[in-house]
Amino acid sequence: MRRAALGVVLALLTRAVMAPAQAQEGFDWPLPDWMPRPPVPEDNPMSAAKVDLGRHLFYDARLSGDGTVACASCHDPARAFTDGRDRAVGIHGTVGNLNAPSLANVAYLPVNAWANPHMTSLEFQALVPLFGEAPDEMGATGQEARIFATLAADPYYGKAFAAAFPDRRDPDLFTVTRALAAFQRSLMSFDSPYDRFKYGGDLDALSEAAKRGEQLFFDHRFECYHCHQGVLFTDNFQREGSPWVEIGFHNAGLYTEYPASAPGRIEITGVPGDAGLFRTPSLRNVAVTAPYMHDGPIPDLRGVLAHYARGGREGPRQSGWHDRRLSGVRGGKPRHHRLSAQPDRRDLPDQPRLAAPWLDDHPARINRADL
Ligand code: HEC
Ligand code: HEC
Repeated sequence: MRRAALGVVLALLTRAVMAPAQAQEGFDWPLPDWMPRPPVPEDNPMSAAKVDLGRHLFYDARLSGDGTVACASCHDPARAFTDGRDRAVGIHGTVGNLNAPSLANVAYLPVNAWANPHMTSLEFQALVPLFGEAPDEMGATGQEARIFATLAADPYYGKAFAAAFPDRRDPDLFTVTRALAAFQRSLMSFDSPYDRFKYGGDLDALSEAAKRGEQLFFDHRFECYHCHQGVLFTDNFQREGSPWVEIGFHNAGLYTEYPASAPGRIEITGVPGDAGLFRTPSLRNVAVTAPYMHDGPIPDLRGVLAHYARGGREGPRQSGWHDRRLSGVRGGKPRHHRLSAQPDRRDLPDQPRLAAPWLDDHPARINRADL
């Protein structure tokens, strides 16, 4: 993030200390009873009004510098809030360095980036796409006053900001980032056939082939579960009331040398051993989040499995930094896995409460020709 963005960050932090009273009513977590709630920051309690405001903002292209890019441009509900591209494309067609991750169950992730271990708040994270300049995503830097005035003039927002933030009422960085974060915390996805099989006691919810796949996934020879573990299939997890969080970064053997454009956690920490380390992604909804990995070089799940079967993209010998648990590496020779890629039913895109709220001819609509 560049200097201008740093300025707004400081303003935001200053304001966070003086959090005004906010409505807390009316929000029900869309969670099955076996799933604990995620943590929610004290200065941004959930409310139905705030989540609905956040949904409108999330789909509103007027938050960008030229009115063409919304959060949903890169986080599309039909793809579990990813974009189908290898690397994200922002304002003016700027191609970034990283793949847009899914936002499903994002409230449970203690770190909200592929490689930045300090990105630990959704409220803060929203500033990156809005104001980040390397790469440009929404290009809002310097346009804040105009953007907030446009929002304030919209009849929906006039009422919605007042309902979500009764003491504050106006669109500004404080309210916009908090409403976006509240909406994102509501993006839950725990109703897959696997969930019904594993946690709901419905033994018929999975096919026999999928049950065999589950056994392989949790088989020590394949090691997948060491990193893709727990209810989210990642070793990154936080929940309400828990004093600790799990954070897992690993080198999944994508490259021998990681390029300067996306070098891994070393970019932030400067520690040489952090080269090529990326946060383990959740595998929920993975059937609809292609292409895969932090910069999207693998187009399908078959390719991901072939990658692991080889013990890394270049094979075990060439890539010295690989995590030793990559299954192909064990025993020194690539193994021929009997893993197969069985797409799961997608449950996220079917939920109307998460869908785009704006009518076709409304100026909030994303209107980039390529989308
Ligand atoms: C131009 C495409 C693009 C736009 C527009 C965009 N994002 Fe993203 N988003 C990305 C990419 C790429 C990443 C990965 C960034 C990283 O890891 O450093 C990301 C990461 C995230 C994450 C972290 C997810 C996780 O797995 O922890 C969140 C949350 C997020 N974006 C929310 C938003 C919000 C809110 C907006 C609108 C204000 C937005 N994004 C707009 C491309 C985009
Ligand atoms: C050593 C930890 C580790 C092991 C073992 C591991 N993974 Fe991964 N996995 C990761 C990391 C880290 C990434 C992201 C790597 C990157 O983008 O550079 C990843 C990425 C993926 C992705 C891409 C997800 C996305 O959204 O882009 C899939 C799918 C996947 N792994 C499946 C598996 C399977 C199947 C196995 C077992 C054969 C496995 N993983 C074993 C750590 C691991």
